[in-house]
Amino acid sequence: MEKIRDVLSDNFTGKEVSIRGWVYRIRSSGRITFIVLRDSTDIVQCVASSDDLSADAMKDLSSLTVESSLELSGTIRKDPRAVTGYEISINTYKIYERNENFPIARDLGEEFLLDNRHLWLRSREFTAVLKIRSTVFKAFTDYFYGNGYYQVQAPMFVSTATEGGASLFNVDYFGEKVNLTQSSQFYLETMIFSLEKVFTIAPSFRAEKSRTRRHLTEYWHAEGEAAWYNNEDMMEDEEKMIKFIIDEVLKNNMEDLKIINRDPARLENIKVPFQRIRYRDLIEKSREFGMNLKYGDDLGADEEYGIMVHFDNPIFVTDYPESLKTFYHRPDPDSPGEILCHDLLAPEGYGEILGGGERIYDLEELLDRIKKNGLSPEDYYWYVDLRKYGSIPHSGFGLGLDRLVMWICGLSNIRETIPYPRTIRRVKP
Ligand code: 4AD
Repeated sequence: MEKIRDVLSDNFTGKEVSIRGWVYRIRSSGRITFIVLRDSTDIVQCVASSDDLSADAMKDLSSLTVESSLELSGTIRKDPRAVTGYEISINTYKIYERNENFPIARDLGEEFLLDNRHLWLRSREFTAVLKIRSTVFKAFTDYFYGNGYYQVQAPMFVSTATEGGASLFNVDYFGEKVNLTQSSQFYLETMIFSLEKVFTIAPSFRAEKSRTRRHLTEYWHAEGEAAWYNNEDMMEDEEKMIKFIIDEVLKNNMEDLKIINRDPARLENIKVPFQRIRYRDLIEKSREFGMNLKYGDDLGADEEYGIMVHFDNPIFVTDYPESLKTFYHRPDPDSPGEILCHDLLAPEGYGEILGGGERIYDLEELLDRIKKNGLSPEDYYWYVDLRKYGSIPHSGFGLGLDRLVMWICGLSNIRETIPYPRTIRRVKP
């Protein structure tokens, strides 16, 4: 049995091939039936002709419907009129399942398609996105394995918050109230004292009330933490990682980019190093774009869109005011009120895909910030302990993989990047 992509080649012309998959399209005109067959690799036009097949076989094949499953054998020839440039003349076939009425068709409502995600995700476009997503996950892992990091795992049931209480999901854990993790960061920090450089890929959960095109309640979070790194060291690893991921997509997914109409030049033109711009300077610069932001304003989806439509390359925004970020960020000793952190904003209006920076490593400073944020040091005893036993400077980051895929694929909603999106209004299928 061959895969479709492999037989779409002049090497196979005139040869007998066997393939199996699902009916992608079908049309009959009297003595001829055209079946476009799909497998995980591609599609190919197959033709059943009454010159080669019995009347019963012709009836059998011409009455097939979209998404029926079958295998077939036949001779393949080059044919520029066929959808992928080749055509197979069917000699023999076996039908696995004959479909009655596949519910997915063009022009169906958004909600209907989301309810039928388990069927919709077979679409050619979605398949292309999932292949790109697969490359992104692998490339992220490969980059860090190649640069001295260890892969680690953190728990999903937790008793602390990293990113503030407002977006916590509570779970009844045998009568005790615990949370679903918002970030594996604190657990990663515990592991740098033995492994020095660590990363993880895991879901993070946010009870986000906001219904924007870039928020999920469950998203895939790629996080890293590195001993001895300062803010700049961390940004250098991150930009190389992003460039590496993009290059891997360009190497492995050109066909998929074409299927989803993503111009590869947008990705080919991404250059490192990425520009670094301080938050205060970005606020100044936003005036050039006709925006009316002032120092201290938070940058949400709309503000970042307003800025990033003017960029073709990602930028790092650094040194945010303390008031805009959570308690663990290290204040800049040379610039009171600002912290040694960065967000990575993607171009073409996409905005934030990654946040990171230096962590407070002085015990008193951390205790002070925990208390100022209305939290209890007892709840964070294990995190505080790290500042008592061999504390060191270190930095880390969290990258939203779904958001990265959204930008790389040029999609308009984060839901289109993940097989089963979880949002404020959806937990099925
Ligand atoms: O900026 P965030 O909240 O930072 C943290 O969680 C840090 N503890 C990470 C770290 O330093 N280890 O989230 C990091 C990234 C964001 O830049 C964004 O890409 C993504 O996670 N993200 C979301 N993606 C989809 N849906 C949501 N609701 C997201 N919230 C954050």
